[in-house]
Amino acid sequence: MKYAGAMKSQSQGHSNSPFRPGYSRAPLVFGGHVDTIEEFTNVFVNYDIGENQSILISGLRGAGKTSMLGVMQELAESAGWITISDDAGSGLMNRVMNTTIPTILNSVDEATRVRLSGLGVWQFNAAFEYVDRRREVTPLLRSDLIALSEATENRGILILIDEVASGKIRLKELSRFALEVSNAIAAGINIVVAFAGVKIDLDELLNQAHMTFLRRSREIDFRRLSPADTRKVLRETTELGGRRMDLNAEELLVSVTQGYPYLIQLAGDYAWRASPQSESISLADAEAAQVKAIAGVERRVIRRVYQDLSEKDQRFLQAMSVDEGKSKMADISKRMEVTPQYTNQYRIRLIDSGYVHTVEHGYVDFSLPYLRDYVRSVVAAEERPEATAGRPDGWDEFPPPALR
Ligand SMILES: Nc1ncnc2c1ncn2[C@@H]1O[C@H](COP(=O)(O)OP(=O)(O)OP(=O)(O)O)[C@@H](O)[C@H]1O
Ligand SMILES: [Mg+2]
Repeated sequence: MKYAGAMKSQSQGHSNSPFRPGYSRAPLVFGGHVDTIEEFTNVFVNYDIGENQSILISGLRGAGKTSMLGVMQELAESAGWITISDDAGSGLMNRVMNTTIPTILNSVDEATRVRLSGLGVWQFNAAFEYVDRRREVTPLLRSDLIALSEATENRGILILIDEVASGKIRLKELSRFALEVSNAIAAGINIVVAFAGVKIDLDELLNQAHMTFLRRSREIDFRRLSPADTRKVLRETTELGGRRMDLNAEELLVSVTQGYPYLIQLAGDYAWRASPQSESISLADAEAAQVKAIAGVERRVIRRVYQDLSEKDQRFLQAMSVDEGKSKMADISKRMEVTPQYTNQYRIRLIDSGYVHTVEHGYVDFSLPYLRDYVRSVVAAEERPEATAGRPDGWDEFPPPALR
């Protein structure tokens, strides 16, 4: 990933395209977020934690949350911090305590391992390799973190938890985890913790008991990149791949992608592959990428974005999708056949989560490119079930023989 002047070499693969469309695929050029990166560099290099003790990274699917966690991890590790990174799935606490931390214990230098062995939390063999936990001690994450910190002279621990989701059991486990972290923080060690997930799920996490320290978190909301940053990502990625991009191709791709990170990588990739042998990406290549990229983003991203929402949120978006541009709140209430108070509640929720925005008083519009078209296609499929029924699975092509 490239940011603040640093860069890594291109990944191997069958294609030599330098674009990286897909979930959790770190981009070669990480666009935008310059201030945030600068601030975290300061946190890790100077231990100037300030208000960055805990961070919530929210944003729609494909907006770059996982990639940002990757950037933070690189920054922290190059400043000598220990990093613990996992997904918020079930078994989080076990994985961290029984796999991640033992791996860290075995990777630190011998002098540190000698110190760790003297703390009484873990057992080490004669070569100072991790063997097991000490059975007489109740295993608690907070004790592990405090011991790690003590043996490394309070070097700093960054904990990154991705994919926060709002399932009841998951949230319970996550809040137990957060409670342990907050106890370790209270003990005075250098810890920074970052959680990433869609906004609705993070808000649910904050509602859990004992989450006071998370409620004071700094929230970073990922939306789209600016046109200038989008341009920069397209141009620099192409150049790192060894080609150039014609100016008119760049302009078309900026407008097609609308700054949406997933789409930038996807459209860039299609444009690159349109004529991989030529020296530069032309307008024709960008045009060829346009249709494919939009179809691709609907299939891979927008559908998941829409499925994250409750049925009522979805109905609100359906009521909006009737309009060509902005929608009048009063019309939405009418179409949903509910009171304005009711629709207003959903308006606030959807604005807060980044799906829609207010254009002027009493009007809203879609924030996410191509969401309107997707919602329309859902409505159309619901209204004409016969149009899609029986087709996708292809069974209709194999009518069973008549029974005698
Ligand atoms: N700042 C950025 N600049 C350029 N490309 C980016 C940036 N952030 C993310 N991307 C690209 O966007 C795509 C999605 O990124 P990522 O997986 O980080 O999103 P996400 O927000 O974690 O999505 P999800 O909510 O589904 O987990 C990837 O192809 C990634 O390379
Ligand atoms: Mg992600």
